[in-house]
Amino acid sequence: MKSQITAIKDYTIGSIDKRIYGSFLEHLGRAIYEGIYEPEHPKADENGFRKDVMELITDLNMPAVRYPGGNYISSFNWEDSVGPIESRPTRLDLAWKTRETNEFGLNEFITWCKKTNIEPMYAINLGTKGIDSARNVLEYCNHPSGSYWSDLRIKHGYKDPHNIKMWCLGNEMDGEWQVGQKTAYEYGRLVNEVAKSMRKFDSSLELIVAGSSSDMMSTYPDWEREILENSYESIDYIALHKYWTNYEKKTSSYLSSNIPLQDYITTVEGTINYVKAKKRSKKNIKISFDEWNPWYHTREIATQNYLDNNLSDWPKAPPLYEDMYNLLDALLVGTVINTFINNSHILKIACMAQLVNVIPAISTVKNGISWRQSIYYPLYFASIYGRGVSLKLKVDVAEYSSDIADNIPYLDASAVLNEEENTVSFFLVNRSENESIDLNFNLYNLEIKNILDQKLITHSDIYVSNTKDNPSAIIPQDNKSISLIDKKIIGSIPKLSYIFLRVKLL
Ligand code: AHR
Repeated sequence: MKSQITAIKDYTIGSIDKRIYGSFLEHLGRAIYEGIYEPEHPKADENGFRKDVMELITDLNMPAVRYPGGNYISSFNWEDSVGPIESRPTRLDLAWKTRETNEFGLNEFITWCKKTNIEPMYAINLGTKGIDSARNVLEYCNHPSGSYWSDLRIKHGYKDPHNIKMWCLGNEMDGEWQVGQKTAYEYGRLVNEVAKSMRKFDSSLELIVAGSSSDMMSTYPDWEREILENSYESIDYIALHKYWTNYEKKTSSYLSSNIPLQDYITTVEGTINYVKAKKRSKKNIKISFDEWNPWYHTREIATQNYLDNNLSDWPKAPPLYEDMYNLLDALLVGTVINTFINNSHILKIACMAQLVNVIPAISTVKNGISWRQSIYYPLYFASIYGRGVSLKLKVDVAEYSSDIADNIPYLDASAVLNEEENTVSFFLVNRSENESIDLNFNLYNLEIKNILDQKLITHSDIYVSNTKDNPSAIIPQDNKSISLIDKKIIGSIPKLSYIFLRVKLL
């Protein structure tokens, strides 16, 4: 199959906010305990943080991590997670039916972020809590000294303020599973007042309102309209969430999932613009896609065997949702990241959900190894090489229809121009189950000096995963199928595969 990718240097979509390559850590399953924190592990540092896991995360140059939930935050008291560890209460977490010792809490998270060079994104409880709790945690974290909460932080051993800029105001408040679920009006009003109070403390905070839990919710997209109508001038971002499944093993359909994803983003962008116009506002609200990933390998089993049962024992950090991702999941992730890059004018934050052990990019064994899942790699290439300005691509290639979309190009692509380094990186996914695709590039004002790098992710077994016994089943390989001939890039991409290509400009 033939294809042609056309790009023009000045024809750009937007400048990429590096935080679109963020992730998420929740007090869920073994994400924290036995994930990033395991004091008894041979590779634990003086804080009990697993150094092997920190290395895999710093390799990603991870820009931001959302914490501590998710559904977890909606019945969480942040005060339980600070102070001397031996005095912290053990609580029963209603979201995941887990016993939470609070051994790892807010200040440990900030220390961990500093060590991994990550910007924290802190989520607050608007399920069982409200304005008072929000202003207290903000004062605890960000006020230098001389007030009750800031002095308490200092007493806890943290002299300098944490200066957390990004705050998620509640989580999935439209969901019937959420502790303290609200109507759009109730939540929109609450968020507005919480945000106004937080801004009295610091007007430069970046505040995120929770949009629909997904585009499949019956209240979507009216939820977005109503919460924005009630909070537009007080917040900065609206959150989108989306998880994908491939239960039926329908490859062509699964790999077309980023077509409806584009509709989801376009619809929310339209809703933002509608409310902006209605309010005669000058403010531009942006999108924070702060939960996204494939999620299906272990979901039903965990829910049936665990969450739906009345447990007499509330275990600490049980293994939950420990999906082992395959090649198709990595390809899907490649297309989702392409969509984020291709919407960089409006989409400024995104968090792969999640980072460690729970629907993870990285898995760990208690007292044992840690390894990268297949989905780690497309995030890695984009995070390391996808910083700069996104180029608007015209991709000419054959198309197909699936049960969820029409006009699906077999080749999915994005490109990022890095003017400082004078490079362009291309991220390509071939969705075809049968054919490789010939690649031809028509680039204007982008004269290529040489090819710097090309990597390929593919496998003869599309369902193979990286596991503890075989942690390198799917890893990127050096690729040789693309060359520079007479100043033109030409080559091919095999069926069902991902290619990262980086070129130097003259
Ligand atoms: O990431 C797992 C869960 O998915 C989060 O806690 C919740 O926000 C979403 O439903």
